[in-house]
Amino acid sequence: MRNHLVAYFAEHHKIVEAEALRLLLATPQPLLFSRRVLEGLGPDTPLVTTEFVERVVGALRTPARGPSSSPRPGADSSSVPVAPYALIREGFSPATGAAPLLAYGQLFQSRFQSLSRLLRGRPDLPNLHPIGEVRRTEGVTSAIAMVRDVRQTSEKHHFIVRLEDSTGAIDALVLKDSLPARTAFVPDEVVGVQLQISRDRERRLPLVEGVVRPDVPPHRPHRPTGRASRVMFLSDLHIGSRSFLEGPWEALVQFLGGRGPRPDLAKEIEHVVVAGDLVDGIGIYPNQERDLEIHDILEQYRALARRLAQLPSRLNVIVVPGNHDAVCPAEPQPALPEEIRTELPDNVRSLGNPSTFALDGVVIEAYHGRSFDDLIPAIPGASYARPTEVMKRMLLMRHLAPIYGGRTPLAPLERDGLVIDPAPEILVTGHAHTFGVDRYRGVLLLNASAWQAETEYQRMRNISPVPAQAAVVDLRDLGLTRLDFASGELVPPEVAA
Ligand SMILES: [Fe+2]
Ligand SMILES: [Fe+2]
Repeated sequence: MRNHLVAYFAEHHKIVEAEALRLLLATPQPLLFSRRVLEGLGPDTPLVTTEFVERVVGALRTPARGPSSSPRPGADSSSVPVAPYALIREGFSPATGAAPLLAYGQLFQSRFQSLSRLLRGRPDLPNLHPIGEVRRTEGVTSAIAMVRDVRQTSEKHHFIVRLEDSTGAIDALVLKDSLPARTAFVPDEVVGVQLQISRDRERRLPLVEGVVRPDVPPHRPHRPTGRASRVMFLSDLHIGSRSFLEGPWEALVQFLGGRGPRPDLAKEIEHVVVAGDLVDGIGIYPNQERDLEIHDILEQYRALARRLAQLPSRLNVIVVPGNHDAVCPAEPQPALPEEIRTELPDNVRSLGNPSTFALDGVVIEAYHGRSFDDLIPAIPGASYARPTEVMKRMLLMRHLAPIYGGRTPLAPLERDGLVIDPAPEILVTGHAHTFGVDRYRGVLLLNASAWQAETEYQRMRNISPVPAQAAVVDLRDLGLTRLDFASGELVPPEVAA
């Protein structure tokens, strides 16, 4: 954890006093506390002092933990391991009642601030100026800006990006065959740009010569924890759907109970993370009722509770909602409501979507992945069949769902809870109903399949699922084993891939 913290502060260009670091390490959730310290510290203060940390830690220690992570009254805690996970952050934070338009202003300001903090001071952004001053400069000038939109010139197919910060907005030209054109600009992402400002400022647009994106830090060596512990990732159960894959689910239950092939592997699994679309919901898409087995939303969650109760109670099960679940669809989404949580087994914890937490010191970001619906059309060459390519892009932007006004509704909150910070070691998504694994700068990327066969709706939208796959990740070395339950029985898996 010490290395995590040092790297985290270094990434934000801060130097931490040794005593301040010791204080943070002594807190129950060091990364969460560090994040609050960074938020409280101004961008121009390079030093994290002991005094400042004392103040933040003092203020944070008093309030109780959020309702979703505290054990329920009367819950039998004997079967639940002690502090099985450390919550770092839930994207969702309750709104304080600002008028929606004002709140969206605050949301974008918060996004800009968080991401420009990561970009400021980069050597490849020399001569940094606010957008409002750029046109008064000459030669090479850098700026940090939000991309408002991108359009293509009709004749030569170059790009014009509209760049904006709180001081103003400018158009800048990206030549179609230049290096900056190779990675498509996504609306509402925050980028650093190197601009060439011509002498003839009145007639020529600033030329984009380089683009710097926040990105995750270059590969950080993973520090093995020593203890044998594994986590299984699942997603998109869609309980209540006629296409729920009952046979494969039963095989999964057998495996986790140590009654299938590789009981040695099953025994080491301590955690299960489910990345959303826990139930099929109602009224999510046109004519969904034809695809439903269970037509009542509460009954769907009761069926989910029964399915989860089939898994060994020693497991720490973490679930986040998706766009089919019974919470507000605007992201970040809150955890499941109390009346549903009380139906779930005691070893199941409901967190918001997205959520960042640590399992045995490994930082995991779990996000359902609704924004694939916006990012895939926005990024040339991206597809549902290869969601990990889009996930790399999320890490590059350090944002899970930047596009405003598309298919992913964004909640008008004061703080942008979809910014990826801290950088995780595992990023897991679902929603695409496929299975994808990749690694990017030391981060394990995983799209965690689905437990629903292809529906009519998916066929219509040209999505071909890869269902009933489970990924088991060894928390010691992030090695991954893919388990295929699609045939209704587990094919004995290869040793870690
Ligand atoms: Fe789904
Ligand atoms: Fe989904």
